[in-house]
Amino acid sequence: MNHLTRRPRRNRKSDVIRNLVQENHLTLHDLIFPIFVTEGQNVQQAIPSMPGISRFSLDRLVDEVGECVELGIKAFAPFPNISEDKKDRFAQESKNPDGLFLKTISELKRQFPGIVLATDVAMDPYSTDGHDGIVDNGEIINDASLEVLGQMALAQAQAGADIVAPSDMMDGRVAHIRQLLDKHAFYNVAIMSYTAKYASGFYGPFRDALESAPKHGDKKTYQMNPANSREALIEAELDTLEGADYLMVKPALSYLDVIKSLRDNSNLPIAAYNVSGEYAMVKAAAQNGWLDGEKIMLETLLSMKRAGADIILTYFAKEFAQYVKR
Ligand code: PBG
Repeated sequence: MNHLTRRPRRNRKSDVIRNLVQENHLTLHDLIFPIFVTEGQNVQQAIPSMPGISRFSLDRLVDEVGECVELGIKAFAPFPNISEDKKDRFAQESKNPDGLFLKTISELKRQFPGIVLATDVAMDPYSTDGHDGIVDNGEIINDASLEVLGQMALAQAQAGADIVAPSDMMDGRVAHIRQLLDKHAFYNVAIMSYTAKYASGFYGPFRDALESAPKHGDKKTYQMNPANSREALIEAELDTLEGADYLMVKPALSYLDVIKSLRDNSNLPIAAYNVSGEYAMVKAAAQNGWLDGEKIMLETLLSMKRAGADIILTYFAKEFAQYVKR
């Protein structure tokens, strides 16, 4: 007989013991649900590359959010699908108080005062170029884009956003937005910065949902190179100095090391964006019967917590809430 002093399996003996020694937990409190709004009345359009996710007209989105609130989801990240005729080079529709997105923010906050809205700041949904900044002669112009992004963030704050979330990756946008918000006394509107946002292939289904794919070129001059991790720490340092309240890593699954690195190097809350392509992969495999979708949902979301994320933006939020309820 072997004499083993250390037997790690003793701590895996039963459910009760496994629960006692469990290091990380996933709860509904950790999640933000990204949702898509589109023009019209009584519209629900399924997004084929994101099974289970739809674009809703505002009236129907209110019903959807109401259902989610009932299930215990309290934080949402809305994104607008803007019709082509409202787009221009300077994303001016983003400041239109009667436009789809700002109306959505104020209506959701009016109907559900207790929810938190984290609103996207970037030009791509409103831009004829499909880029996150102003395009001039094929180049994305940084400083001129800051003006547009600042006005967009301010308009969202005025509409009732709790958190503005710049996803554009222009240099200096956090400082610029913070100054403008403070100048207008929006001291309590927080900034969740897309700190380490990579030029990723995983955004495809999202761009289907918003019809916001770049019309030319790619996003590599502003989004990060997937080969880099130290660079994420430079972005984190800058965002922190510029006044970010949260740091985000995006995508999540292929970048768990970056989440961990930010966790180890910052005391700010860290968010992970479990993006559209990550959702689509799991759904596709589950629909084929190749993976157990629910197990994979739980395992992948937990891996993000284990890596150090406090908050996860995920299209699985509603499904997770339904799972918890059962
Ligand atoms: C745009 C933006 C993107 C996502 C969130 N904000 C796409 C992009 O940068 O092209 C992607 C989210 C997802 O894939 O779920 N600024």
